[in-house]
Amino acid sequence: MNETHFLNCRHNLLQLMEEGVAIITSAPAKIRSNDTEYSYRQNSDFYYLCGFNEDNSILVLIKTHEFTKTILFVEAYNEDHALWNGARLGVEGSRERFSVDEVYASAEYSGMIKELLREHVNLYIDLYCDSPRIIEAESAAQALHSMRGIKRYVRSIRDISYLIRSLRLIKSDEEIAIIRQAIAITAEAHHEAMRVCQSHMREYQLQAAMSYIFLNSGAVSEAYGAIVAGGNNANTLHYIDNRDELHEGDLVLIDAACEWELYASDITRTFPINGKFSDAQKEVYEKVLEVQLRVIDAIKPNVKRDWLQNYSEELLCDALIELGILVGERKALIEAKEHKKYAPHGIGHWMGLDVHDPCPYVDESGESLAFEAGMVMTIEPGLYFRADDESVPERYRGIGIRIEDNILVTEEGYENLSEMIVKTVNEIETMCQN
Ligand code: GLY
Ligand code: MN
Ligand code: MN
Repeated sequence: MNETHFLNCRHNLLQLMEEGVAIITSAPAKIRSNDTEYSYRQNSDFYYLCGFNEDNSILVLIKTHEFTKTILFVEAYNEDHALWNGARLGVEGSRERFSVDEVYASAEYSGMIKELLREHVNLYIDLYCDSPRIIEAESAAQALHSMRGIKRYVRSIRDISYLIRSLRLIKSDEEIAIIRQAIAITAEAHHEAMRVCQSHMREYQLQAAMSYIFLNSGAVSEAYGAIVAGGNNANTLHYIDNRDELHEGDLVLIDAACEWELYASDITRTFPINGKFSDAQKEVYEKVLEVQLRVIDAIKPNVKRDWLQNYSEELLCDALIELGILVGERKALIEAKEHKKYAPHGIGHWMGLDVHDPCPYVDESGESLAFEAGMVMTIEPGLYFRADDESVPERYRGIGIRIEDNILVTEEGYENLSEMIVKTVNEIETMCQN
């Protein structure tokens, strides 16, 4: 990602802030077991503003009526760390790399924070983060409040993450290009899973075939724990065990995708393990697909997200009536939430630096947001019929189907960023038999 992108992001955030000081911290490194760590994943809000990928770093934005300033605190270069874990960029390296105004060693933060907050009335922090660096800033504000000679002190502690996440809602062209790259790799992985799938394989073997493509393409990580769910396992929405055998005649639902430069993709396909849909599977599949296509087709600027959710529920309810699973009038069924038993989750979510991008869904007054060009979301309708659910005709029991794509809102309407991933019954059967 280009340095100008991060400069723009910080500039936009400073525009949204009133005068004051904002403190955004990196994610902590996390122990996995004894003295070994999970692979490091940066805090998305922090990364969005500076693109720095090391732990123990702190970004400080200052805004007064006269000037704005950005300060980055980074862990100093350390020989021992370089030997065991690799070289850190360090203070000098960071000065050269980043277009921030000042860079200091993280060790200096504690000694500087009081001075940085002096005479400021607004302190912006992530209110829902318990980073010790944020607690230090709050303590510094408290100390300043009772210090002699101080004319103005912090009177308001405000949430910076809400402002950052409002900005994250609209993706820049560069962000979209990165998401496209994540999706391109994920597309290849889903196609490979369809090609290699056979009955008697284990779910984790399909996951491994996909992981190979993610890693071999240079993607550092899955964007979330992969779901590879054969047969009835698809009816456990967040099934991540992935250890069962795949059985002849069942479907497999795969919700798996990679992250590229910290940006997520999020794709689900459901296909027959033996490469050929049964009649019952095809009936349900085509209903879900029709709902998905119609919901995607309704996306354009100014359509409200809540409207799309309600529309998708109406379509799913109609599908359940047409399959003979629900009986009655759509309106009454929806009011009684009858459809929720078989279609329990929402139609989709924002996607970006986090797979479930924590951007607002409502405006300041609590009204559902309307779509704007640059927003990226998933559309992922599903129908789930548990094997032991006697309210469902026997032929549909044990079928769970979700189809998920990643959609960009454009000025004209939408672009399905993942449309290259096969999706119709014919396309899928052809890919499976390849
Ligand atoms: N992969 C999680 C989701 O689809 O929301
Ligand atoms: Mn999703
Ligand atoms: Mn998903």
